[in-house]
Amino acid sequence: MFVAVFLLLITLCAQGGNGDEGQEAQRLGHVSVVIAGGTGDLAKKYLWQGFFQLYINQVSSGYTFCFYGGGLSPKDKGTPALFEILKAVSCPSGVPVERCAVLKEQYLRLAQYRQLKTAEDYQDLDKHIKQQLQEEGMVEAGRLFYLSVPAFAYADIADKVNNACRPTTGAWLRVVLEKPFGHDFRSAQILATQLGNSLKEDEMYRIDHYLGKQVVSKILPFRIANKKFLDPIWNKYHIDRVEVVLKETLDAKGRIPFYDEYGVIRDVLQNHMIEVMTLLTMRLPKNMSNNQEVLQNKLKIFSTLQPLGKKQAVIGQYQAYNAEVWAELNKTKDYVSRTPTFAAVVTHIDVAQYDGVPVVLVSGKKLDERVGYARILFKNDVFCVQNHDSIHCKPKQLVYYFGHGNLQYPAILVTKNLFKPALIDSEWKEVTEHKDIKVLGLPISDYYVQTPIVQKDAYAELIAQIFSGRRDNFISAENLLASWNLWTPLLDSLASSFPRIYPGGADNGNLLDFRLKGREISYISKAVIIPPDQVGGSSTDNFQIMQGKYRSADMVTAWTEELIERLATDLQAAAEAVVSEGGTFHLALSGGSTPLALFQRLAQHHFSFPWRDTHVWMVDERCVPLTESESNFHLLHEHLLQHIRIPYYNIHPMPVELNQRLCVEEDGGALLYEREVNKLVSNSSFHFVLLGVGYDGHTASLFPGDKVDGHGERLIALTESPVKPHQRMSLTLRAINRAHQVAVLVMGKGKHELVTQLSRVKDSPNKWPVTGVRPTSGKLIWYIDYDALLG
Ligand SMILES: *[C@@H]1O[C@H](CO)[C@@H](O)[C@H](O)[C@H]1NC(C)=O
Ligand SMILES: *[C@@H]1O[C@H](CO)[C@@H](O)[C@H](O)[C@H]1NC(C)=O
Ligand SMILES: *[C@@H]1O[C@H](CO)[C@@H](O)[C@H](O)[C@H]1NC(C)=O
Repeated sequence: MFVAVFLLLITLCAQGGNGDEGQEAQRLGHVSVVIAGGTGDLAKKYLWQGFFQLYINQVSSGYTFCFYGGGLSPKDKGTPALFEILKAVSCPSGVPVERCAVLKEQYLRLAQYRQLKTAEDYQDLDKHIKQQLQEEGMVEAGRLFYLSVPAFAYADIADKVNNACRPTTGAWLRVVLEKPFGHDFRSAQILATQLGNSLKEDEMYRIDHYLGKQVVSKILPFRIANKKFLDPIWNKYHIDRVEVVLKETLDAKGRIPFYDEYGVIRDVLQNHMIEVMTLLTMRLPKNMSNNQEVLQNKLKIFSTLQPLGKKQAVIGQYQAYNAEVWAELNKTKDYVSRTPTFAAVVTHIDVAQYDGVPVVLVSGKKLDERVGYARILFKNDVFCVQNHDSIHCKPKQLVYYFGHGNLQYPAILVTKNLFKPALIDSEWKEVTEHKDIKVLGLPISDYYVQTPIVQKDAYAELIAQIFSGRRDNFISAENLLASWNLWTPLLDSLASSFPRIYPGGADNGNLLDFRLKGREISYISKAVIIPPDQVGGSSTDNFQIMQGKYRSADMVTAWTEELIERLATDLQAAAEAVVSEGGTFHLALSGGSTPLALFQRLAQHHFSFPWRDTHVWMVDERCVPLTESESNFHLLHEHLLQHIRIPYYNIHPMPVELNQRLCVEEDGGALLYEREVNKLVSNSSFHFVLLGVGYDGHTASLFPGDKVDGHGERLIALTESPVKPHQRMSLTLRAINRAHQVAVLVMGKGKHELVTQLSRVKDSPNKWPVTGVRPTSGKLIWYIDYDALLG
């Protein structure tokens, strides 16, 4: 029977033919699939198999197909190579062997190799396709180009496709791209622009095969199917932390030329892992079939992620890596690669729902096991008095298990102390018979487990979605740039860091274990690597915090970090002294970038600061709306106020905006602030005024040449700055000098010259405004770091 059918094939695609089921072909039209890089590794391992699956699924749907494997080699070399690959394509489970054999025979006949190198090659391909359509009297449905080539070739191929190989009117063009899409924000943007010159956004399918994994693609459907259980607990009150983990046992050997340029963060965190993270945390779409809504909700997560810096990551490199680099990159033995092969990164989502919930992304090569999963660990407030093995007091967790590891199959697991989940759909089943294994610390019998009835390959799944034009599992240009926008600053800040060296495999022990502390992450064990030439003496021990005199006032000096610690401690001591007497502490803070480190220190380490009994005033303000990033109050709010528990009515921004205009004398903003000070601050004497000093010697917003000593009895004045925004509101010297305590903070090498100069000049407020700071009965302390003091 099958043999007979086989002989009746109509000829198509040069040497092949479509199957018996193709009678309706004329109805839906003809599809040309072109895999550029068609004899490469990815094509060999996944793509031809994936397209075979597509062919099997679509063969009786009314479409006809031709498949072209494109490559740079000439036809006589490429053809046998392609044939070898196609011969190895296997029959998917669920397809009867005999039927599969016939389909495979057809698939082979429908596929051919073509050299795709020059513009003419693409023109020839176009001509060939059109000729076919004409000869067979077929309508064209679409063309699918799968670019399985290095990213540097994308723009060129896209250009050739656009110029010579667009389908006939009415038919679709879909071009599939594989990562990497750039290696930082800028390069991604350039690539996006180049591709945008040839292709429309909706013609591009940026593939992330992770999104085709069966469990990953069910993260949202599972959340929706179990909404009634998850809604009440999907928030900071119940979630302890979220983890996305991808552990590998393999090394990077053989791919070093690629890998060394990228490293683990660019290779998997920037794409696979952050994508999974967005699926776990994004707002559920109202309509899952609305691609646009899904993509928009995903995008929103990026805009709420806290920026990533050095303190949000730990990195490692397996020991043998550097030798592999020497060998594959032909480097000499003194070359040291800093490319991380392991990274753990903690992110925080800045929305009330997830406030304070860490989201951890962990991945590495040469670890102890191969496994991928995402886990939501919930808080458990049950205390078991007697039976500690009771499920009630065990961890509560929801695990999306992507595969490998102990379990070996993809699954979604929910501990029995959470809820019994509904099945996602009819393609999934519950598993009740288990081997005796543990999954993330718990016996499998502690979980409800569901798994797909048939396991499907990620590429095959995504190819099917591309064919049907579904875009929600692909990366939009906006999404891509938002992701690079998040990762680029971290990558830049890590560029000069040395990764921790780990032996690899089980020997890693607890060397890579890390701790989450507030918004920061650090290795739990200290691995001190002392270069041989430094053994026997540590240079930084010689410097401690030093006391001294500067401009006949007190001075504290130390390395930057210690200096900030000391200032924060002094500030808290001053506040406690006032509050313990039953008073209210009045603190005036200045703007600019110098005090930001202090603000962060206060927010992150001084939890016992008596904020409830503290009033925060501004030393000075720029005449811009408070909502703008230039506003001093805005900075103060970003870095301090929003992180502490201070009553709103204790906060006093300067009224720079009155009657819908900024700092107009007649509006009386300065006077208004002065009255508020007089009303609340006893004797109008702030307890603590924090000042900085500018390169020109200005302090607060009192600038040289601006008649700094001419404000008379006024506490607040409008002033003029030589730099934009010019208009300012500022405490006057009189207000500053009434304070109980004034601290002037000076940091950074750039201020060294100023510090030297100031140490020599006499008090001359109109030339050097900071020299006018002389508290009448209060105390003045200079806080100067070593960089500023010693240069
Ligand atoms: C969901 O979105 C799809 C695709 O945009 C649309 O066809 C469908 O009507 C929507 N369903 C509802 C209930 O809005
Ligand atoms: C490796 O480097 C050496 C010295 O620079 C050079 O002579 C040799 O050709 C290089 N080999 C390869 C494979 O690049
Ligand atoms: C009020 O402040 C001024 C200026 O600092 C000071 O000289 C005076 O002693 C203070 N008066 C009281 C009652 O504290």
